[in-house]
Amino acid sequence: MLLLLGACGGGGTSPAVAPAGAASSPGMPASAPSTSSKPLSLQAQLGEKIFLDRNLSGSGRMSCATCHDPAFFHGPPNSLPVQVGGAFETEFGTRAAPSLRYLERLPAFTGTAQTAVADLRGGLMADGRVDTLAEQAKLPWFNPREMDNGNAGILARKLRSAAYAGDFGRAFPPAAGASAPDDDSLVSQASQALQMFQLEDPRFHPYDSKFDWVQQGRAQFSNAETRGLRVFNDPQRGACLTCHPSFSSNNAPVAFTSFGYAALGVPRNADLPNNADAHAFDLGLCQSKRSVMQGRDEACGFFRIPSLRNVEHRPVYFHNGKFSSLEQVLRFYATRDTDPAQWYPTVAGQVQLYDDLPAALQANVMRNAPFGPSRLVSDADIADILCFLRTLSDGYPGPATPPKPGCN
Ligand code: HEC
Ligand code: HEC
Repeated sequence: MLLLLGACGGGGTSPAVAPAGAASSPGMPASAPSTSSKPLSLQAQLGEKIFLDRNLSGSGRMSCATCHDPAFFHGPPNSLPVQVGGAFETEFGTRAAPSLRYLERLPAFTGTAQTAVADLRGGLMADGRVDTLAEQAKLPWFNPREMDNGNAGILARKLRSAAYAGDFGRAFPPAAGASAPDDDSLVSQASQALQMFQLEDPRFHPYDSKFDWVQQGRAQFSNAETRGLRVFNDPQRGACLTCHPSFSSNNAPVAFTSFGYAALGVPRNADLPNNADAHAFDLGLCQSKRSVMQGRDEACGFFRIPSLRNVEHRPVYFHNGKFSSLEQVLRFYATRDTDPAQWYPTVAGQVQLYDDLPAALQANVMRNAPFGPSRLVSDADIADILCFLRTLSDGYPGPATPPKPGCN
């Protein structure tokens, strides 16, 4: 995994450094504005009701929207590193709740037992353990730390007594003479409805950030935003684009993720209840329980590379919610290896590098730019990258809007 491009799946298509001001650079595709206001299908409409239904939980108080709140960019509405669920709302989760936006182009997991970790792609969850949004929905429903519904029978009973129970027959017309769906089929229909809702509802993927406006030639970056993009793309400095590409190859809007995996050595978060056990580690990809990942220690510490859209609005960052400000995240990238004592605990005069991985697996952590023995990203660069990242937020009102404070 130590080859940077390989690790992040540049796939050879990345421009070395895209010139600043993406809109004016040749070969930069104009992203399609998502102005489609097609009405949702019956399945998607049913999915929205299910998404918001708090009754579909052991506590009776938790819906999908509790952790993935549409008003908070489909992410968590609070700054807890992990959310609290379960029948009595006493069980802490093990990972930060992500935003559900921009998952519509995430591919299913691809790779075999022989595929280099660097080339693995796709899959939902930080460790890529499920392939479809429908499959995914069954995880929170039955997770005792989340919605905790017990079993399919209990959930099906709630679905049959919901105000929208009649919608199932219309959204999933039964074959002539077929009997009513059994518990498992009803739960599968509900999960299919959730998938269609997330795929169809444009609020999950509006592509209407300032970045998109600039790509379409309808707005211009400020000087600071332009400088930020330049450091972001520079392979000798930020090198962010190797994992979070700021370009797309097929005229699609930019995803800001290669959909691959990387090991950053994010510091251990002592605030996670799960981490009270000093021997417990969240190893990510190598623990995904996929058969092709069995015994692959070289995949430990790898987590899926997230999109950076709306990243300024995330209350906590990284899979373990270790950081609570975007600036901290950028400082971590810039100084992890030049000033490690700032990030990792010191025990008996020794800085405990990459302390969220057992010693034997720490060699998996990537050391290429922006990491490494010399500092490649300055404080001024950090300020500029921040300005650039703040152009990735949905709902840009239009070119009359001044740049964010400090981003002229
Ligand atoms: C208690 C909080 C909580 C609730 C309730 C919840 N989720 Fe999540 N969700 C999470 C967390 C935490 C993760 C990340 C888990 C991981 O990476 O292992 C996640 C991940 C996801 C993902 C994958 C995102 C990605 O980037 O791969 C999807 C999709 C998702 N949830 C949809 C749903 C749906 C649909 C529901 C309702 C059926 C739901 N969630 C209910 C906390 C929650
Ligand atoms: C080697 C691949 C790689 C490179 C290079 C890289 N990132 Fe990341 N980035 C990741 C991965 C993997 C994660 C998720 C890690 C985790 O959850 O523990 C991530 C997460 C982030 C997050 C937090 C997102 C969230 O929702 O929690 C931000 C912000 C970010 N990266 C910005 C950047 C910037 C800016 C640069 C350039 C300075 C950069 N990244 C370079 C792989 C990379």
